[in-house]
Amino acid sequence: MADERTKEKLALEGGLKAVTSIEGKGRPKIGVEEFMSVAERFGFSEKALAKMRKAAEADDLGEGPFLPNYYSGLKETKVEAYEKIARKVFGSKYAIGVNSGTSALHAAFIAAGVGPGTEVICPAIGFFATSAAVVTSGAVPIFCDVDKSLMIDPAQIEPLITKRTVAIAPTHWQGGICDMGAIMKVARRHKLKVIEDCAQAVGGEFKGRRVGTFGDFGCFSISGYKIVGGGEGGLILTQNKRNWERAQQFIECGGLWRPVRFARPRYKGELFCGTNYRMSELEAAVDVVQLGKMPAVVKRFRTVKHRILKRLRTYGEIEPQVLNDPEGEVGYTLRFYPETIKLGRKIVAALQAENISASMRGDKGRPDWHVYHSMFPVTYKTGPTEDNYPWEDPLYLKRGGSIEYNRGDCPVADDLFDRVISIGLNQWYNAADCRHIAGGINKVLSAYCSEDAEAAPWL
Ligand SMILES: Cc1ncc(COP(=O)(O)O)c(C=O)c1O
Repeated sequence: MADERTKEKLALEGGLKAVTSIEGKGRPKIGVEEFMSVAERFGFSEKALAKMRKAAEADDLGEGPFLPNYYSGLKETKVEAYEKIARKVFGSKYAIGVNSGTSALHAAFIAAGVGPGTEVICPAIGFFATSAAVVTSGAVPIFCDVDKSLMIDPAQIEPLITKRTVAIAPTHWQGGICDMGAIMKVARRHKLKVIEDCAQAVGGEFKGRRVGTFGDFGCFSISGYKIVGGGEGGLILTQNKRNWERAQQFIECGGLWRPVRFARPRYKGELFCGTNYRMSELEAAVDVVQLGKMPAVVKRFRTVKHRILKRLRTYGEIEPQVLNDPEGEVGYTLRFYPETIKLGRKIVAALQAENISASMRGDKGRPDWHVYHSMFPVTYKTGPTEDNYPWEDPLYLKRGGSIEYNRGDCPVADDLFDRVISIGLNQWYNAADCRHIAGGINKVLSAYCSEDAEAAPWL
């Protein structure tokens, strides 16, 4: 029993409160130092940084920013603004900001029903991240050859379809555009999902419609290595609410995206364990601006490529890359196939001597993650554990699955990937630059090839 003399009346019973005020003066958790760290990363000069610090210190940040995307208390977060502008510039019903292009692909595959015992048809030329995301989704990638556009050959897809196939994942490669009309026809005929990998062709169009809006999902990397992007960012587009919900569930499995976070599943397949691929607010702050610039960036690249292409003469020994939609190309590379690698070497050396940034892979067998036979973790079929999942997954084997990957599986890709000459273009070339570059290409090709008005045209 407490001593009556020391017993004080509880605040609950009308006594004095023990704590009437807090005297310790807090400072924002995130404040001027963090802001200056971002400014420093941008590379501003010491002088500019000092001015910024002075201005920032003079301001009152209150409790400082709360940087997550959810429950921020803001009218619109940067991620929300990024998704909004994505919907607008791509003409898409739904958009989800994620932390990378690989995450976008992983989420799209999972949301599309790619999983154990299934296969996804991937292009022989693309990037390793696409087939890697198939594998991390529990499925097996099957490579499909390309045609002279260097994109997946729609005519080669059908023979690869098995009872295990659930999706096709075309890649719009290096500014080029896949024949989405033909791909969608095959997909519909066989009730397959389509996941477009648009990481290298942001803003590209097929017949006037942005790539990424044809398939069930469009996946983008919005990273610093792309023509639009800050550091590490990604984007998923879809035109279907269920697809949006399932992709959201995967990238944000805490359910913060749901109207009622803890509600029971509204339908079969709504709730499952995903991960956290949420986009960072700081990344979105940069990428919302980058996406806003996308239409102008693409327009400049297209203008440059067209200005050059229309000045090029045709040659018997040169075959230009086939363009599935010359108007819709993003256009940051110009490509053509010399008759032989030997001729290609001469052309590349001569173009470089003219100050034109040309390259050719050649036949030295240098590994490259853009071509199927060099995507080693896939082709060696080595999983992270001894059971070599998914290739030796009992379910996959039970469904009759078995695959070996060898150079020679996709002969058109084997040949063209080594032989193609690529010229990198810059969106800031002016009309005179384009004239000089076109003049240089004509000069070099005229020195080594025979001009032929009947040869394959550039446009
Ligand atoms: C075609 C393609 N798909 C996917 C990715 C992966 O994107 P990220 O690096 O943002 O994960 C890339 C990145 O280079 C890519 O080029």
